[in-house]
Amino acid sequence: MLWSEDPISTLMDEHRLFLRWLADVRRDTLPFEVGTVRVLPAAILTFGEVLSRDVDELHGRKEEEGLFPALARHLEGEEGPVRVMLEEHEVLRRHRNDFSVHLKKIQSDPEAREARTGVSRVIASVDALLRSHIEREDGVLFPLAREFLSAVELQEVAEVFREVEIRLGPISLPRGSSGPGPH
Ligand SMILES: [Fe+2]
Ligand SMILES: [Fe+2]
Repeated sequence: MLWSEDPISTLMDEHRLFLRWLADVRRDTLPFEVGTVRVLPAAILTFGEVLSRDVDELHGRKEEEGLFPALARHLEGEEGPVRVMLEEHEVLRRHRNDFSVHLKKIQSDPEAREARTGVSRVIASVDALLRSHIEREDGVLFPLAREFLSAVELQEVAEVFREVEIRLGPISLPRGSSGPGPH
């Protein structure tokens, strides 16, 4: 499990996994994008799944059901930063839906040029958006949460995280040897 008693550190740990995953995906899909390989790389086959399960369902729900509502209660009329993050979660969901449409087309017709371009375009958009989203959560939103949330509120947020992981299981991305290990 990735949750800890400090829910903000849990989210930041997950962000680091996502950044490493994005870098791996871009590296592995480049030959496909430039057309030197025709076979779909594994990174593309699993892209929608990771985006859906790890980024949206697991991580997104921890933020949307746990941290964001707790933080918004302190922002009284200044919820702009939380709202922007929620809107971006929606944009990521739309990218995920577009991605599955393109992938299905490629799987039934490997030469479908438009779908092949579509897959590359969605991956590039997710890469740019998610990187910038993570940067603003780590750099703006989470420091606000650290400033405003009491120890009791952080504990309540950690409890929501536990419920999410019990419901959906742990994150599927490998933590790798450089990570702090499960706790
Ligand atoms: Fe987010
Ligand atoms: Fe996040």
